[in-house]
Amino acid sequence: MTRDLVVIGLGYVGLPLAQEATRAGLSVTGLDASTAVVDGLRAGRSHVDDLSDSDLAEMIALGFDVTTDPNVIAEAETIVICVPTPLTPEGGPDLGAVLSATRAIADHLRPGQLVVLESTTYPGTTDDEVRPVLEARGLVAGTDFHLAFSPERIDPGNPTFGMRNTPKVVGGHTAACTTVAAAFYGRFVDTVVTAKGTREAEMAKLLENTYRHINIALVNEMARFCHELDIDLWDVIAAAKSKPFGFHAFYPGPGVGGHCIPIDPNYLSYQVQAKLGYPFRFVELAQEINAGMPSYVVRRIQDALNDEGKALRGARILLLGVTYKPDIADQRESPAKPIAVELIEMGAVVQFHDPYVQTWGLGPTSMECVSNVETAVAEADMCVLLQNHGLYDLDDIIASSRRLFDTRGVTAGPKVVRL
Ligand SMILES: NC(=O)c1ccc[n+]([C@@H]2O[C@H](COP(=O)([O-])OP(=O)(O)OC[C@H]3O[C@@H](n4cnc5c(N)ncnc54)[C@H](O)[C@@H]3O)[C@@H](O)[C@H]2O)c1
Repeated sequence: MTRDLVVIGLGYVGLPLAQEATRAGLSVTGLDASTAVVDGLRAGRSHVDDLSDSDLAEMIALGFDVTTDPNVIAEAETIVICVPTPLTPEGGPDLGAVLSATRAIADHLRPGQLVVLESTTYPGTTDDEVRPVLEARGLVAGTDFHLAFSPERIDPGNPTFGMRNTPKVVGGHTAACTTVAAAFYGRFVDTVVTAKGTREAEMAKLLENTYRHINIALVNEMARFCHELDIDLWDVIAAAKSKPFGFHAFYPGPGVGGHCIPIDPNYLSYQVQAKLGYPFRFVELAQEINAGMPSYVVRRIQDALNDEGKALRGARILLLGVTYKPDIADQRESPAKPIAVELIEMGAVVQFHDPYVQTWGLGPTSMECVSNVETAVAEADMCVLLQNHGLYDLDDIIASSRRLFDTRGVTAGPKVVRL
């Protein structure tokens, strides 16, 4: 075989994986179904936050290449699947991309290869969905080829933890599959943690994300009643987190976003309901609370305007930061979107600023970032800090704004209303 690795799906997960493997000296080819993605990468343009154009140039210089041609699969020792796993309109997991990538592998599978699924999905996917497709032509997992699941833990924009220094969980179809997959990741990840099998590795990822989802919902619910009780929840959390054990701080905000937290726990609740016939109540409650935050923010903005004798209808509202997390450009599932849509529906004149977003898609319409943030801040009846990007000078924003609604608890003063 002529390549160490083929990465299928060149997005937020696949590209950093390809980067780390290339840097470690592996020969890596990226395979993507989208010609636009492949053409962009070939032209030296990275479309993900964690990979700059110069990172991409470095990878290409080290031999990384990209293609839409699945024939490369036959030439690889290891194939890793990093394609999206969105939700269906009914709220269940959409395995379309995973299964199509798996069929492409099955068409080119050779004895001795290692196949790893990294896409986040419900427990049992590797064994019940991926394995039968791979075995359809007679090769047997654990005997003729190796099969494993390894959840991706990438945290886009995190300056401290990247692919190499974030421990990698690996669970194989057999113990031998686990050993082979662990040895593969050990070539470019500092710490590999082995799970008992594929289901345990799949569930570990969902436990991590469900834990986060539920704890964010806990503080979001507390934010509502702390406001009523005139208690500063951020001060409460600062005090509580002085406890050196048994407490991990989570912070309230305008809702949850990104490709993982609002979506992954659904895979689990869907499977519990479909297979066992009862609801996963924690997830459902967290879903309800977090999904209600955008409307709650709109109501609080309306209340803050009302306190000044102003109506929301006709008020100029400037939204600051519309991505789902600070310092990156990813807008997927960002709560800024439902907030903007609701404000517009209620008659507000909405503008936005984000250092990472020029054109912001809002369903059927889109909006351009204000050209001069200082002027827009000064002219708005209410500025709303939705995402605290490091590039924002909050003192400047407070000084020139009339009023600031702060959903992140990072500002204070007479002009500021906190969530
Ligand atoms: N983005 C994150 O922060 C993150 C973190 C952890 C886990 N994950 C999980 O990793 C997986 C991938 O997410 P992502 O954010 O990298 O997605 P992405 O949308 O950024 O990239 C996926 C890529 O796969 C390509 N693709 C789709 N179907 C394909 C197919 N059949 N064959 C080849 N290529 C195909 C797309 O064109 C796209 O370029 C998902 O399951 C996600 O839940 C994402």
